[in-house]
Amino acid sequence: MPHRPPVKIAPSILAADFAAFGAECRAVEDQGADWVHVDVMDGHFVPNITFGPQMCAALRPHIRGVMDVHLMVAPVDPFIEAFAKAGADIITVHLEAGPHIHRTLQAIRAKGKKAGLAINPGTDIDAVPYLLDQLDLICVMTVNPGFGGQQFIESQIDKVRSLREMIADRPIHLQIDGGVTVDNAASLVAAGADVLVAGSSVFKGGSVTNPAPYGANIRALRAAAGG
Ligand code: DX5
Ligand code: ZN
Repeated sequence: MPHRPPVKIAPSILAADFAAFGAECRAVEDQGADWVHVDVMDGHFVPNITFGPQMCAALRPHIRGVMDVHLMVAPVDPFIEAFAKAGADIITVHLEAGPHIHRTLQAIRAKGKKAGLAINPGTDIDAVPYLLDQLDLICVMTVNPGFGGQQFIESQIDKVRSLREMIADRPIHLQIDGGVTVDNAASLVAAGADVLVAGSSVFKGGSVTNPAPYGANIRALRAAAGG
């Protein structure tokens, strides 16, 4: 078994208190989060709207570690610069967001940011081999994007396994996004994932004024993942 980096837990603030985002980012990092996953939705690529680059810029000072920005936006090219300026460390775009994904990934790297590719449940991975040299992260969507708290789509586990094989020993993170819980964390890591995004399973039971459950939930996920 090739050496794997320790599993990273990336809470998604889509499940946080929208009226207290800065405090929620600080709280979830204090409670052990490795990255903060920031879900940007445009109401066009996905049937929901969250926030834009200004919100990301406002969150930046409240995130000590990695700001992992997931752009559920199409067209996405016009917004790469704004999210790079907002302070994103990783900018993940959807394979389905436009006709020139290779150029989009180049544009992210040209801004000095890490480039991520998100793949919806119904999308094949046959384009990935042609993009590997432009990638720092691949995000497997294990729910249909747009909402938190959805049911995990089991069929995606095979996709995770195939992508891990494709990545081989390249320095590319394999991230899982959607419906991650203590019940599926172990099989996801066994299939090759090294970053687990989790919204509802991290933020459940806690609040900015009572963040301890965040820490307990993160520790439970990490333990279930074998981390
Ligand atoms: C869905 C988002 C996910 C979601 C994860 O479109 O990309 O990051 O917020 O939330 P849970 O873990 O609750 O499925
Ligand atoms: Zn996401």
